[in-house]
Amino acid sequence: MLKNYSLETLGAKSCIDNSWPLMVNALDSIPKKKFYSTMDYGAADGGTSMELWGRVFQKLEGKSIYHIANDLPSGDLPMLSENLNQLRSKFENLVVFIQPSSFYMHVAPQASLNIGLAATTMHWLSKIPEVQHFGQFHTAIAP
Ligand SMILES: C[S@@+](CC[C@H](N)C(=O)[O-])C[C@H]1O[C@@H](n2cnc3c(N)ncnc32)[C@H](O)[C@@H]1O
Repeated sequence: MLKNYSLETLGAKSCIDNSWPLMVNALDSIPKKKFYSTMDYGAADGGTSMELWGRVFQKLEGKSIYHIANDLPSGDLPMLSENLNQLRSKFENLVVFIQPSSFYMHVAPQASLNIGLAATTMHWLSKIPEVQHFGQFHTAIAP
């Protein structure tokens, strides 16, 4: 469902949808598991990334998945909740959580995530962070 933020940000949705090949690469590069955990950092109302996450969960069909959507407490959490529940209703093995805090804090247990998406959140940084690349994984030290 696209409302409010998502409706006004269809360009971002298009970029996110087009990142599917990167997501497939990332998914294919991690060892096969029974259980996956995913995170959408700075998800806003979740509408722009819903289709991409739907494709990810489809690809992981039959696996147990917990998906966390993160944004600041001031975000549109009711709409995020609605969008997440809509996704959840399509995948039997999916559970969803909202993590309402800054992604510069711990937003998941250490080393617990398999796939993360941070789309259009870079311009919120006060300065360019030091980024380290490990294959498909990129880590940044927050300023
Ligand atoms: C331009 S929106 C992008 C939303 C979505 N990821 C997309 O690409 O369509 C940026 C989002 O990042 C969130 N954000 C900014 N700083 C954040 C932080 N430190 N922790 C979590 N979310 C943050 C904002 O609240 C906003 O919802």
